[in-house]
Order: sequence, then structure tokens, then C-alpha cells
Amino acid sequence: MKEKGKLVRIAGPVVVAVGINARMYDLVKVGNENLMGEVIQVDGDRVTIQVYEDTSGIKPGEPVVNMGLPLSVKLGPGLLTSIYDGIQRPLPVLSKKMGDYIQRGVTASGLDESKKWEFRALVKKGDKASPGMIIGEVQETETIKHRILAPPEEKYEGKIKEIKSGKFTVNDVVGKLENGAELRLSHEWPVRVPRRLAEKSAPNMPLITGQRIFDGLFPLAKGGVAAIPGPFGAGKTVSQQQLAKWSDADIVVYIGCGERGNEMTEVLTEFPHLKDPKTGKPLMNRTVLIANTSNMPVAAREASIYTGITIAEYYRDQGYSVALMADSTSRWAEAMREISSRLEEMPGEEGYPAYLSTRLAEFYERAGIGKTLSGDIGSVSVIGAVSPPGGDFSEPVTQNTLRVTKTFWALDAKLSQRRHFPSINWLTSYSLYNKTLEPWYSEHVNPNWSRMMAEIMSILQEEEKLLEIVQLVGSDALPEKQQLTLEVARMIREFFLQQNAFHDIDTYCEPKKTYMLAETILYFGDRAKQALEEGIAIATLLNLKSKDEIANVKFVKDYEKELNKIKLSIDREFNKVEQGGQ
Ligand SMILES: Nc1ncnc2c1ncn2[C@@H]1O[C@H](COP(=O)(O)OP(=O)(O)O)[C@@H](O)[C@H]1O
Ligand SMILES: [Mg+2]
Repeated sequence: MKEKGKLVRIAGPVVVAVGINARMYDLVKVGNENLMGEVIQVDGDRVTIQVYEDTSGIKPGEPVVNMGLPLSVKLGPGLLTSIYDGIQRPLPVLSKKMGDYIQRGVTASGLDESKKWEFRALVKKGDKASPGMIIGEVQETETIKHRILAPPEEKYEGKIKEIKSGKFTVNDVVGKLENGAELRLSHEWPVRVPRRLAEKSAPNMPLITGQRIFDGLFPLAKGGVAAIPGPFGAGKTVSQQQLAKWSDADIVVYIGCGERGNEMTEVLTEFPHLKDPKTGKPLMNRTVLIANTSNMPVAAREASIYTGITIAEYYRDQGYSVALMADSTSRWAEAMREISSRLEEMPGEEGYPAYLSTRLAEFYERAGIGKTLSGDIGSVSVIGAVSPPGGDFSEPVTQNTLRVTKTFWALDAKLSQRRHFPSINWLTSYSLYNKTLEPWYSEHVNPNWSRMMAEIMSILQEEEKLLEIVQLVGSDALPEKQQLTLEVARMIREFFLQQNAFHDIDTYCEPKKTYMLAETILYFGDRAKQALEEGIAIATLLNLKSKDEIANVKFVKDYEKELNKIKLSIDREFNKVEQGGQ
């Protein structure tokens, strides 16, 4: 039963009501305009609510209605290609309903309830049913089959009494269990409750990103968690979008959380035109966008994060690999801080609530790979952008994120100022998945993958040490071997690490190309080292043309042919100088 109470206090996005007997996280409708809110504190008769819509003009005495349900998302076919706000209202439907005026209290179902889907049952009368099992499928988009699941609740344990294939809406009953439980194409799930895997397993394959520095040096595993911290303008959004476009996940959930509206507009206008490199079909076919910009109410930011991860888990439960990007988790943390201060809670570090670390950890823990309830393998990989004020990584959000993420892609303003993109600092970034993923890369790309990437890393680290010396004494004072190291490091930075997100070909680099580029640069380095040992002068080596031919390979489609040619020209040049006995 829906109870009615009344408002007694309004403090920005936080309001207090009496007269409703609510539980934590119950959904409520607030005020004359029925604004959507969620209970976040219960104190005797007084109930504190965070409101997902703008509360200006709301007055004490206005009604509050307890819906008696937690904030939930509607899961079923039609999620893909959708663009939602933080509480799963489709933005196109909202803008139609609102017209030119920003109205509040508009409700809109997360799924199109009139559309009929062609459902093909995969179970039959008499079959055993269990929570989370696949009962059938719907071709959701050209590229993705939506597996229809029995909701992961106990009452779906039993025997199937009836089930039919045919055309149905998401609300139609398509089957029943003997115990009376009804099967539909959709079900609801409370966003704050993680959906269960039958068994979590250890990550063992990479999420291929098509970005050389990520795949090569700091890989992320499918089911793993990465953080991209960086100051304003360092490249968080571009990196997140690159991952959304190019990563080899089956499904992408992209949450624009609290960033400026124009950044999200870019996403909203650009994504619908992008093509999936794997299928040549629209990328939106496998994508769900959630947009919650800085001008939308802060409480809805938190909702957008949970809405997003729940949708991600739902596709994981269908046996898909899902990648979720959240840009930026700092804005979510700031929303928590604002709500917490309205609640007059004891502030922790830098004013953030004491539960900041728990909330972040709980969110990232929803990533993972494992066996689904229906016995497939599914994964959710999470990539969270963090925007520390002033780029200071010692602040609480970055630090608490670091504690729970295993891949750390540190953006560096100094690099972006130098136009070195992606501006990932190779000295402070790390991945704890390198060892875990070695067998995969060895089998699927090249047995020497890890050795090659370790060599690249060690040259970059040596460069850093040498540069300190160079600052003191200049590069001419360095021994020739070390001058050579500096040159090879430069080649690595410019020909390998730098990758232009806006170049048609360079924007995506398959792992084999990543490998071959690294190998060719190191091949040059090795031949040059030998030549030095044979007494060739460093100046001669630094003038060789062949090394600079490597610079353009990243922009070339037929890179294998090109690199093989370059190797021959490296050989030719070295043979010549060595025979010339310089
Ligand atoms: N990989 C990249 N390739 C080319 N340009 C980039 C790349 N990453 C960032 N940039 C440039 O840097 C600008 C700022 O990046 P952006 O992702 O918007 O920063 P942030 O989200 O951290 O504030 C972009 O508009 C773009 O011009
Ligand atoms: Mg940004």
C-alpha cells in the first residue's frame, strides 16, 4: 500500500518527511509535482530523502508518497541503443514529454512497453527452471541477441508449466512455472543490490582496447577494474570514449556522470554515427548511454552509477563481456559529499563522508568475471575516470580508488601540454594483470609479447634516469651506449606510445600491430648496439634513415608489409655502415 506523509524540511536535494513508514532506499514521490526521491535515512518517524530532481519551490506541508519499493531498473530488450538519465528515463522520451519547458516529476519507462519483440523460447513445458537461467532469446539489435533470463529470485526454482514463442511486449507473460511464477521478457532489479554470479573466477584474458600503451604496457583484464585519474584537459574523456568505441567487449555501458553538458553532448551526437569495427554496424547496437551532466541534480549522479552497473551486470548474466566506463567518479564522490553535508554527518577527509571508501569499493567490487547462473562465462570490466582537483593524486577519491583498482592509467598534464597523447604517464601507471595475462598474449599474439613489452618498459625507465644526468651535464657527456638508449626511448615514445585518437587508422591498433611496432623499434636498437660495439660512431647511427621510417607505420593499414620492408632497409643500412668500417 502506498502511504502518504508530508514534507517538514527542505535543504537543496535533501528533504525530510514525516508520516510515512519507510525503509532505507525506498522510492518516494515528493511534493505536489511527484519528484522522484530515495530514502537515505530513517530516524523514528522522520525520514530523510534525496531527491533526483530539482527541489526549488517545494514547500513544507506538501505530500510525500512512499512507493514501498527500492529504486530499480527495468531490464529487458530495448536497453541497447538507449540513452538514459540517471534513473533510467529515456532522454528522447523525456524531451518529447517535456517539450520546451523543463518539467519535473515526469515518469517514463526505461523500456518501450508497446514494442513487440520476436521471442524464441529455448526451454519447453516440463523443463526444470532455475533463477537466472536463459529461457529464450530476442534479436535485440542487428548484432546482439538478448538472452531472456528467469529473474534471479528463488521463486523461479521449479518446473515450467507453459511457455510460448511469438511476438510479445516486455510486459507480456510468455510462460509460467508450476508454482505460478510468471516469466516475461523483462524484470526489475533494485540498483543497489549486486546481481549474483554462480562463481567468480580469476581474470585470465585481456580487455583489448586497441590503445598501444594500455594493451602493451598496462593491460586490463576482462572482469578487471581500471582507474584513469587526471587533471582537467589531460584526456580522461577521450580515453574513456576510445575504450567505449574500440574495446573488444560485447556490450558497452557508458556513464557520463556530472561532467559538463557539452562533453556529454559530444558523446550523444557522435556515438550514434560510429561504426563497430568488428561488425561494421552502428556501435550503438551494443551500447547503453547514461547521461547525467553537471546541471542535473547531484543526487541523480549516484543513481546513474548504480543504474549503469546494474545494466552491465544484467548483460554479464546473459554470458556477455561488458565494459562499463564512468566519467567521472569524482563527480559522484562530490555528490556524496554534498548530500552528506546536508545530512550534517561528521565529515571525513576533505569533507567527504567517512563511507566514501566503502561506497567506492562496493561499486568496483561489482566488476568481475565468472560463471553466470545459467552456466556461461560473463564479465563486467569497469573503467572509472577520476578528476582530482589540480591533478593531485593524494586526494581521497584517487587514493580510495587506487586501493581497489588493479590497473592504473595515470594521466599527466605535462604530457598533454607537450601534445603527447594519450597522456598516460608510463612511469607512474601500472597494471597488476601483466603476469596473469602473459599466457593469453603469448598464445594469441606472440610468444615473445611479455619479453618485448618488458624491454620497452625498461628502456623507458632507463631514459628517465639518464635524463636526470643529461640535465646536469648535457647529452654529449653521456657514453655512446647511453646516447643510443635515449634515441631508442625517443622512438618508443613517438612511434609507439603516442597514438592519435582522431586519426582514422591510428585510433585503433590491434595487438599484433602493437607487437610488431615494438619489435621493429627494438630490432633497430639491437642492431645499433651491435654496431656501436663494432666501433661505429653514434653520430652515424643517429643519422640512419630507416629508423625514422618506423614513425609513419602507425598510420598505415597494411602495417605488416610496411614493417617487413623497414626491417630490410634497417639491415641494408647497417650492413652498409658496418662494411664501410666507419
Ligand atoms: N588520445 C588522444 N589523441 C589526440 N588528442 C587527444 C587524446 N587525448 C586527449 N586529446 C586532446 O586533449 C583534449 C582534452 O581531453 P579530454 O579527454 O577532454 O580531457 P579531460 O576529460 O581529462 O578533461 C581533447 O579535446 C583532445 O584535443
Ligand atoms: Mg572530461
